[in-house]
Amino acid sequence: MYYGVSYYPEHKTKAELEHDIRLIKESGINTVRMGEFAWNRFEPNEGEFHFEWLDLVIENLGMDGIKTIICTPTACPPAWLVEKHPDILYMDNRGVRRPFGGRRHYCYNNKSFRKYSALITEKIGEHYGGNPYVAGFQIDNELAQEGTGRCVCPTCSEKFRNWLKNKYKNIENFNRRSGAVFWSQECNDFSQINPPVNTIEVGAQQQIHAFYENPTVRLDFERFSSDSLIEFQNLQTKILKKYTKYPVTTNATGIATNSIDYYKSTKELDCYGFDYYPGLRDTAVDSFPYAFARGIKAGKPFWVMEFMSGGGHRLGGSGRLQPNPGALKQAVIQSFAHGAQMMLHFQFRTFPIGAEQLNYAIVDADGVPRRRYYEMKETAEVLRKIEPIISNSKFVNEVAICLDYDTHWALRIKPVNDSSFYYFDYCRKIYQSLSEVGVNSDVISYDQDFDQYKIMILPTGFVLSLEMREKLKNYVSHGGILLGTFLTSVKNIDNVGYVGSLPSGLSDLFGTTVEEVEPVFENNHNHLKIEEGDCSITTTDEIWSEILSDDSELAGKYLTDYKKDKGVIARNSFGKGMAYYIGTDFCKEDLKTFLLNICKNNGIFIHELSGNDKVEVVRRRYEGKDVYFIFNFNSEETEIHVSGMFIDCLSGKVLKGKHKIDRNGYLIAMKSV
Ligand code: GAL
Repeated sequence: MYYGVSYYPEHKTKAELEHDIRLIKESGINTVRMGEFAWNRFEPNEGEFHFEWLDLVIENLGMDGIKTIICTPTACPPAWLVEKHPDILYMDNRGVRRPFGGRRHYCYNNKSFRKYSALITEKIGEHYGGNPYVAGFQIDNELAQEGTGRCVCPTCSEKFRNWLKNKYKNIENFNRRSGAVFWSQECNDFSQINPPVNTIEVGAQQQIHAFYENPTVRLDFERFSSDSLIEFQNLQTKILKKYTKYPVTTNATGIATNSIDYYKSTKELDCYGFDYYPGLRDTAVDSFPYAFARGIKAGKPFWVMEFMSGGGHRLGGSGRLQPNPGALKQAVIQSFAHGAQMMLHFQFRTFPIGAEQLNYAIVDADGVPRRRYYEMKETAEVLRKIEPIISNSKFVNEVAICLDYDTHWALRIKPVNDSSFYYFDYCRKIYQSLSEVGVNSDVISYDQDFDQYKIMILPTGFVLSLEMREKLKNYVSHGGILLGTFLTSVKNIDNVGYVGSLPSGLSDLFGTTVEEVEPVFENNHNHLKIEEGDCSITTTDEIWSEILSDDSELAGKYLTDYKKDKGVIARNSFGKGMAYYIGTDFCKEDLKTFLLNICKNNGIFIHELSGNDKVEVVRRRYEGKDVYFIFNFNSEETEIHVSGMFIDCLSGKVLKGKHKIDRNGYLIAMKSV
């Protein structure tokens, strides 16, 4: 297990460096991440490489058992490179090149940029690949972050045309599949196609808000840009792997940015690494990003390359709150409980300089260790004690939620109930609802194995391939329980609407057909009644409303307006399993009741430790026993009720009946058999 900080020795005087290294050593952390913005220190002039400035730091830390994660510095192409090859600069959707002076100002498809990136990566790999004090490599820094994932420069445009040609083979096929007859968009040759940005709306940001663009070409552009970033990343992966046996990864932006399909991008990496900046002041830390991270490589431990460290100033201007005492420690342990193997705070000491001057860190610019530093020190101590349990325990979740980037992108291209419906937030709501009723779940991609799960949840399977339809049918016919929700199987993989009745091609599986759809705004809510097993809920539709056909076996009906007595939730036995179709969204409390009931009826494990909503419980299996990681996110001490007998893994005390957990406290309890 790796725990530590990001650190920037290139900014420091000799005296500062000595001071910081002493503090780092005394803190008990075991990992430092360095180098990601230091291209000009590594290569101040073309072809002139220097590593001595970093070697000394790595060795100094390494002698005391602190490992280094070395980053390739390609997020910051230096002035000499931009001057020589101005065409490497990133071009945004207004056609404006991003000038030198910030970071990430490059086009990932540009040949010259790739050549120089390959060379610096080669040199770093060669120099550090076998260094005993190195623990791994990070490629670049937050690929696509800060709106740099959708370059439209001439190189990208040309490559996009070739990408389309490769996919569609001939122009007739492209015209047909992309619906190009609409608005006379048919082309005679691939050379006539452009990246589909600004064809109607012009926004200054590289977000997808272009509702009138051709949806097929736009989804292809999303895929092409994601593929291009992955290709750029993997040029570096390949080079580093020539020189090292240490793990190679990158720091993704997780579910915050979504310009890259991380299920694809992590295939050639050794693990999924990502950055996470949750608030730590009087708030629960959302564990959905961890479940997502764990699912990227089918349960393999993930690395958190950057994590919150403190409050104060912030790059974006608004500032951040300081963590509650104890919150930093609690959050770090929580991330390891959810499957992290590495967790590095951003960053060790506040920068007095540059765009991020005075940003939060573990230690302030004056270098004086204060409470965050001492809390990090205590955390390192706890982690040492729990390492055997974390490293040797497994997740045994029986419920999974499956996600997909095509659906995410398609819902950004043609939003439904825009601003109220965000696909990843909806998935998060389902995940949290399960967690709050005592069911831990996994978050996986459409490609992963469904059969190991008793219940599979398909939230809004908007873009659904023919293969995925078959996979779902197979899963249910062999005994799986499927919960599909509104707007499922609406579009094919070309982002074109299916003309079969909805859920297209799945009416047999769900035993229902969608008769009518509409968004739910403030003035058209309807009440509905859900009756399923022991649960009877009266609730209100939200976001999107579908009326299901009269021939469905209903588990939910509308109660009001012209929809009265019409179906909204259908239930259908299919082969050995059961499929539910849920034609609307509803509030979290009612969703929890509904999900709990389905889980209970299907023998899903529901943990025996109950507290309240703000107590999170993660269950893992360790040496044949259940081990629970319990986190109190209430803003006061809380009491949990333990049924059965448990041992507190840290104190060794026996736990029975009622037990108190401090504000921002945690408990690691092993079931005693
Ligand atoms: C991250 C970035 C870091 C730093 C940090 C500040 O997105 O990777 O370099 O800028 O944000 O919170």
